[in-house]
Amino acid sequence: MKVIETIAEMKRVRLELPGSVALVPTMGYLHDGHLELVRRAKAENRWGVVSIFVNPTQFAPHEDYTAYLRDIPRDLAMLEKVNADMVFIPSADEMYRTGHHTWVNVEQITDRLEGEIRPGHFRGVATVCNKLFNIVQPARAYFGQKDAQQLVVIRRMVSDLNMNLEVVNVPTVREADGLAMSSRNTYLSPDERRAAVVLYHALKLAQKMWSQGDRDPHRMRHEMIKLIEEEPLVEKIDYVSVADSETLEELHEVSPRALVSLAVKIGRPRLIDNIVLE
Ligand code: PAJ
Repeated sequence: MKVIETIAEMKRVRLELPGSVALVPTMGYLHDGHLELVRRAKAENRWGVVSIFVNPTQFAPHEDYTAYLRDIPRDLAMLEKVNADMVFIPSADEMYRTGHHTWVNVEQITDRLEGEIRPGHFRGVATVCNKLFNIVQPARAYFGQKDAQQLVVIRRMVSDLNMNLEVVNVPTVREADGLAMSSRNTYLSPDERRAAVVLYHALKLAQKMWSQGDRDPHRMRHEMIKLIEEEPLVEKIDYVSVADSETLEELHEVSPRALVSLAVKIGRPRLIDNIVLE
Protein backbone atom coordinates (compact mmCIF):
# COMPACT_ATOMS: atom_id res chain seq x y z
CA MET A 1 0.00 0.00 0.00
CA LYS A 2 1.49 3.29 -1.12
CA VAL A 3 1.18 6.41 1.04
CA ILE A 4 1.27 9.67 -0.90
CA GLU A 5 1.46 13.13 0.65
CA THR A 6 1.77 15.56 -2.24
CA ILE A 7 -0.57 16.47 -5.07
CA ALA A 8 2.27 16.29 -7.61
CA GLU A 9 3.13 12.72 -6.65
CA MET A 10 -0.52 11.62 -6.56
CA LYS A 11 -1.02 12.98 -10.08
CA ARG A 12 2.18 11.34 -11.32
CA VAL A 13 1.34 7.93 -9.83
CA ARG A 14 -2.24 8.17 -11.13
CA LEU A 15 -1.04 8.54 -14.71
CA GLU A 16 0.74 5.20 -14.46
CA LEU A 17 -2.35 3.24 -13.33
CA PRO A 18 -3.94 1.13 -16.05
CA GLY A 19 -7.61 0.18 -15.58
CA SER A 20 -10.35 1.73 -13.48
CA VAL A 21 -9.43 3.79 -10.44
CA ALA A 22 -11.84 4.20 -7.51
CA LEU A 23 -11.63 7.02 -4.98
CA VAL A 24 -12.95 6.85 -1.41
CA PRO A 25 -12.75 10.34 0.15
CA THR A 26 -12.57 10.31 3.96
CA MET A 27 -11.49 12.46 6.88
CA GLY A 28 -9.86 9.50 8.61
CA TYR A 29 -10.39 8.04 12.08
CA LEU A 30 -11.81 5.15 10.14
CA HIS A 31 -14.46 2.66 11.19
CA ASP A 32 -16.22 -0.21 9.48
CA GLY A 33 -18.52 2.18 7.58
CA HIS A 34 -15.52 3.69 5.79
CA LEU A 35 -14.01 0.24 5.23
CA GLU A 36 -17.21 -0.94 3.57
CA LEU A 37 -16.76 1.85 1.00
CA VAL A 38 -13.20 0.65 0.37
CA ARG A 39 -14.32 -2.98 0.04
CA ARG A 40 -16.94 -1.97 -2.53
CA ALA A 41 -14.42 0.22 -4.36
CA LYS A 42 -11.92 -2.62 -4.53
CA ALA A 43 -14.51 -5.18 -5.63
CA GLU A 44 -15.69 -2.99 -8.50
CA ASN A 45 -12.42 -1.43 -9.73
CA ARG A 46 -8.83 -2.32 -10.51
CA TRP A 47 -7.41 0.24 -8.06
CA GLY A 48 -8.68 1.58 -4.75
CA VAL A 49 -7.40 5.00 -3.69
CA VAL A 50 -8.43 6.32 -0.27
CA SER A 51 -7.94 9.96 0.68
CA ILE A 52 -7.59 11.02 4.30
CA PHE A 53 -7.96 14.74 4.70
CA VAL A 54 -9.67 16.63 7.51
CA ASN A 55 -10.94 19.42 5.32
CA PRO A 56 -10.76 22.73 7.23
CA THR A 57 -13.09 24.56 4.82
CA GLN A 58 -16.13 22.43 5.67
CA PHE A 59 -15.95 23.29 9.38
CA ALA A 60 -17.45 26.52 10.72
CA PRO A 61 -15.22 28.51 13.12
CA HIS A 62 -17.09 27.16 16.18
CA GLU A 63 -17.05 23.55 14.95
CA ASP A 64 -14.67 20.74 15.84
CA TYR A 65 -11.92 21.08 13.16
CA THR A 66 -8.93 21.09 15.51
CA ALA A 67 -10.60 18.61 17.86
CA TYR A 68 -11.55 16.25 15.00
CA LEU A 69 -10.14 12.85 15.84
CA ARG A 70 -6.99 11.83 13.98
CA ASP A 71 -5.02 8.55 14.08
CA ILE A 72 -3.14 7.96 10.84
CA PRO A 73 -1.14 4.86 11.94
CA ARG A 74 -4.38 3.13 12.98
CA ASP A 75 -6.11 4.19 9.73
CA LEU A 76 -3.24 2.84 7.63
CA ALA A 77 -3.31 -0.52 9.42
CA MET A 78 -7.07 -0.79 8.77
CA LEU A 79 -6.66 0.13 5.11
CA GLU A 80 -3.91 -2.48 4.63
CA LYS A 81 -6.37 -5.13 5.78
CA VAL A 82 -8.97 -4.23 3.15
CA ASN A 83 -6.29 -4.07 0.43
CA ALA A 84 -6.41 -0.39 -0.40
CA ASP A 85 -3.77 0.30 -3.04
CA MET A 86 -3.01 3.92 -2.26
CA VAL A 87 -3.67 6.37 0.52
CA PHE A 88 -3.50 10.07 -0.28
CA ILE A 89 -2.83 12.14 2.86
CA PRO A 90 -2.16 15.76 1.91
CA SER A 91 -1.61 18.51 4.48
CA ALA A 92 -4.00 21.46 4.73
CA ASP A 93 -1.30 23.74 3.27
CA GLU A 94 -0.83 21.37 0.35
CA MET A 95 -4.54 21.36 -0.47
CA TYR A 96 -5.14 25.08 0.13
CA ARG A 97 -2.20 27.13 -1.05
CA THR A 98 -1.99 30.80 -0.10
CA GLY A 99 -4.26 32.73 -2.44
CA HIS A 100 -6.85 29.97 -2.90
CA HIS A 101 -10.01 31.80 -3.99
CA THR A 102 -12.08 29.31 -5.95
CA TRP A 103 -15.15 27.67 -4.47
CA VAL A 104 -17.83 25.31 -5.71
CA ASN A 105 -21.26 26.35 -4.56
CA VAL A 106 -24.14 23.96 -5.16
CA GLU A 107 -27.26 26.08 -4.67
CA GLN A 108 -30.72 25.43 -3.17
CA ILE A 109 -30.25 21.84 -2.02
CA THR A 110 -27.54 23.13 0.31
CA ASP A 111 -29.90 25.63 1.96
CA ARG A 112 -31.81 22.95 3.88
CA LEU A 113 -31.15 20.35 6.59
CA GLU A 114 -27.40 20.15 7.34
CA GLY A 115 -26.76 23.16 5.11
CA GLU A 116 -29.20 25.29 7.07
CA ILE A 117 -27.64 24.38 10.41
CA ARG A 118 -24.06 24.48 9.04
CA PRO A 119 -23.80 27.41 6.58
CA GLY A 120 -20.82 27.04 4.25
CA HIS A 121 -20.36 23.35 5.09
CA PHE A 122 -21.30 22.04 1.64
CA ARG A 123 -19.26 24.72 -0.11
CA GLY A 124 -16.23 23.19 1.61
CA VAL A 125 -17.33 19.62 0.85
CA ALA A 126 -18.07 20.30 -2.84
CA THR A 127 -14.82 22.22 -3.31
CA VAL A 128 -12.60 19.58 -1.70
CA CYS A 129 -14.31 16.72 -3.54
CA ASN A 130 -13.90 18.59 -6.83
CA LYS A 131 -10.19 19.03 -6.05
CA LEU A 132 -9.80 15.36 -5.09
CA PHE A 133 -11.60 14.28 -8.28
CA ASN A 134 -9.23 16.45 -10.36
CA ILE A 135 -6.15 15.12 -8.57
CA VAL A 136 -7.06 11.41 -8.57
CA GLN A 137 -9.27 11.34 -11.71
CA PRO A 138 -11.28 8.33 -10.56
CA ALA A 139 -13.74 6.43 -12.75
CA ARG A 140 -15.90 6.00 -9.65
CA ALA A 141 -16.11 7.75 -6.28
CA TYR A 142 -17.72 6.05 -3.29
CA PHE A 143 -19.90 7.84 -0.73
CA GLY A 144 -22.00 6.58 2.20
CA GLN A 145 -25.78 6.90 2.44
CA LYS A 146 -25.10 7.90 6.07
CA ASP A 147 -24.47 11.45 4.82
CA ALA A 148 -27.49 11.51 2.51
CA GLN A 149 -27.44 15.23 1.74
CA GLN A 150 -23.71 15.14 0.98
CA LEU A 151 -24.40 12.40 -1.56
CA VAL A 152 -27.19 14.45 -3.18
CA VAL A 153 -24.90 17.51 -3.34
CA ILE A 154 -21.99 15.55 -4.88
CA ARG A 155 -24.28 13.90 -7.45
CA ARG A 156 -25.69 17.32 -8.37
CA MET A 157 -22.20 18.81 -8.76
CA VAL A 158 -20.94 15.89 -10.87
CA SER A 159 -24.00 16.09 -13.12
CA ASP A 160 -24.18 19.90 -13.38
CA LEU A 161 -20.47 20.27 -14.13
CA ASN A 162 -20.34 17.24 -16.47
CA MET A 163 -17.61 15.57 -14.46
CA ASN A 164 -16.25 12.33 -15.82
CA LEU A 165 -16.98 9.94 -13.01
CA GLU A 166 -19.68 7.80 -11.51
CA VAL A 167 -20.85 8.46 -7.95
CA VAL A 168 -21.58 5.23 -6.07
CA ASN A 169 -23.83 5.14 -3.02
CA VAL A 170 -23.01 2.63 -0.25
CA PRO A 171 -25.72 1.72 2.35
CA THR A 172 -25.20 2.88 5.94
CA VAL A 173 -23.22 0.46 8.09
CA ARG A 174 -24.71 0.13 11.58
CA GLU A 175 -23.71 -1.20 14.99
CA ALA A 176 -25.54 -4.32 16.24
CA ASP A 177 -28.25 -2.19 17.92
CA GLY A 178 -28.81 -0.06 14.80
CA LEU A 179 -26.74 3.05 15.62
CA ALA A 180 -25.09 4.31 12.42
CA MET A 181 -21.30 4.06 12.65
CA SER A 182 -19.60 7.45 12.93
CA SER A 183 -16.26 8.81 14.10
CA ARG A 184 -18.26 11.12 16.36
CA ASN A 185 -19.76 8.18 18.30
CA THR A 186 -16.40 8.00 20.12
CA TYR A 187 -17.39 11.13 22.04
CA LEU A 188 -20.45 9.45 23.59
CA SER A 189 -20.30 8.37 27.25
CA PRO A 190 -21.59 4.81 27.88
CA ASP A 191 -25.01 6.18 28.89
CA GLU A 192 -25.16 8.48 25.89
CA ARG A 193 -24.13 5.59 23.65
CA ARG A 194 -27.12 3.60 24.93
CA ALA A 195 -29.39 6.63 24.42
CA ALA A 196 -28.11 7.27 20.88
CA VAL A 197 -29.99 4.30 19.49
CA VAL A 198 -33.13 6.46 19.75
CA LEU A 199 -32.23 7.97 16.34
CA TYR A 200 -32.50 4.56 14.74
CA HIS A 201 -35.70 3.75 16.63
CA ALA A 202 -37.26 6.98 15.36
CA LEU A 203 -36.33 6.05 11.77
CA LYS A 204 -37.78 2.56 12.27
CA LEU A 205 -40.97 4.17 13.55
CA ALA A 206 -41.23 6.22 10.34
CA GLN A 207 -40.68 3.08 8.29
CA LYS A 208 -43.41 1.32 10.28
CA MET A 209 -45.90 4.18 9.79
CA TRP A 210 -45.12 4.17 6.07
CA SER A 211 -45.64 0.37 5.87
CA GLN A 212 -48.97 0.76 7.65
CA GLY A 213 -50.12 3.22 4.99
CA ASP A 214 -49.67 6.49 6.88
CA ARG A 215 -48.85 9.19 4.31
CA ASP A 216 -48.99 12.27 6.56
CA PRO A 217 -45.48 13.76 6.96
CA HIS A 218 -46.57 16.03 9.84
CA ARG A 219 -47.82 13.08 11.88
CA MET A 220 -44.69 11.13 10.97
CA ARG A 221 -42.39 13.91 12.19
CA HIS A 222 -44.55 14.50 15.27
CA GLU A 223 -44.40 10.83 16.32
CA MET A 224 -40.65 10.67 15.71
CA ILE A 225 -40.03 13.82 17.76
CA LYS A 226 -42.21 12.49 20.57
CA LEU A 227 -40.19 9.28 20.70
CA ILE A 228 -36.85 11.14 20.66
CA GLU A 229 -37.95 13.55 23.39
CA GLU A 230 -38.76 10.62 25.67
CA GLU A 231 -35.00 10.00 25.86
CA PRO A 232 -33.69 12.18 28.73
CA LEU A 233 -30.10 12.39 27.41
CA VAL A 234 -31.22 14.10 24.20
CA GLU A 235 -29.93 17.66 24.40
CA LYS A 236 -31.45 19.12 21.25
CA ILE A 237 -33.24 18.08 18.07
CA ASP A 238 -31.86 20.12 15.13
CA TYR A 239 -34.36 18.73 12.63
CA VAL A 240 -36.54 15.79 11.74
CA SER A 241 -37.33 15.84 8.03
CA VAL A 242 -39.46 13.92 5.56
CA ALA A 243 -38.26 15.16 2.19
CA ASP A 244 -37.98 14.39 -1.49
CA SER A 245 -34.74 12.45 -1.86
CA GLU A 246 -33.50 14.59 -4.78
CA THR A 247 -34.75 18.14 -4.17
CA LEU A 248 -34.65 17.70 -0.37
CA GLU A 249 -37.87 19.72 -0.16
CA GLU A 250 -40.24 18.78 2.65
CA LEU A 251 -43.10 16.61 1.37
CA HIS A 252 -46.81 17.40 1.75
CA GLU A 253 -47.60 13.75 1.28
CA VAL A 254 -45.14 10.96 1.98
CA SER A 255 -44.18 9.24 -1.26
CA PRO A 256 -42.06 6.19 -2.12
CA ARG A 257 -38.31 6.87 -1.84
CA ALA A 258 -38.93 9.72 0.63
CA LEU A 259 -35.81 10.59 2.60
CA VAL A 260 -36.46 10.59 6.35
CA SER A 261 -33.51 12.26 8.06
CA LEU A 262 -32.68 13.69 11.45
CA ALA A 263 -29.98 15.46 13.41
CA VAL A 264 -29.94 15.16 17.18
CA LYS A 265 -27.49 16.33 19.81
CA ILE A 266 -26.79 13.72 22.49
CA GLY A 267 -24.25 14.93 25.03
CA ARG A 268 -21.38 16.59 23.14
CA PRO A 269 -21.71 15.14 19.64
CA ARG A 270 -24.34 15.94 17.08
CA LEU A 271 -25.51 12.75 15.38
CA ILE A 272 -27.18 12.41 11.99
CA ASP A 273 -28.94 9.47 10.38
CA ASN A 274 -31.51 8.75 7.69
CA ILE A 275 -33.47 6.10 5.82
CA VAL A 276 -35.12 6.03 2.44
CA LEU A 277 -38.68 4.70 2.72
CA GLU A 278 -39.53 1.68 0.62
P1 PAJ B 1 -16.14 11.19 6.63
O1 PAJ B 1 -17.10 11.66 7.65
O2 PAJ B 1 -14.82 10.66 7.06
O3 PAJ B 1 -16.86 10.10 5.76
C1 PAJ B 1 -16.24 9.53 4.63
C2 PAJ B 1 -17.25 8.69 3.87
O4 PAJ B 1 -17.66 7.58 4.70
C3 PAJ B 1 -18.52 9.47 3.51
O5 PAJ B 1 -18.93 9.15 2.18
C4 PAJ B 1 -19.52 8.96 4.54
O6 PAJ B 1 -20.87 9.04 4.10
C5 PAJ B 1 -19.07 7.52 4.69
N1 PAJ B 1 -19.58 6.94 5.95
C6 PAJ B 1 -19.41 7.43 7.20
N2 PAJ B 1 -20.05 6.65 8.10
C7 PAJ B 1 -20.65 5.65 7.39
C8 PAJ B 1 -21.47 4.52 7.73
N3 PAJ B 1 -21.82 4.28 8.99
N4 PAJ B 1 -21.90 3.73 6.73
C9 PAJ B 1 -21.56 3.98 5.44
N5 PAJ B 1 -20.79 5.02 5.05
C10 PAJ B 1 -20.33 5.84 6.01
O7 PAJ B 1 -17.90 12.66 4.72
C11 PAJ B 1 -16.76 13.06 4.86
O8 PAJ B 1 -15.81 12.39 5.60
C12 PAJ B 1 -16.26 14.35 4.23
O9 PAJ B 1 -17.31 15.28 4.15
C13 PAJ B 1 -15.61 14.16 2.83
C14 PAJ B 1 -16.61 13.57 1.81
C15 PAJ B 1 -14.39 13.23 2.93
C16 PAJ B 1 -15.14 15.52 2.26
O10 PAJ B 1 -14.24 16.12 3.12
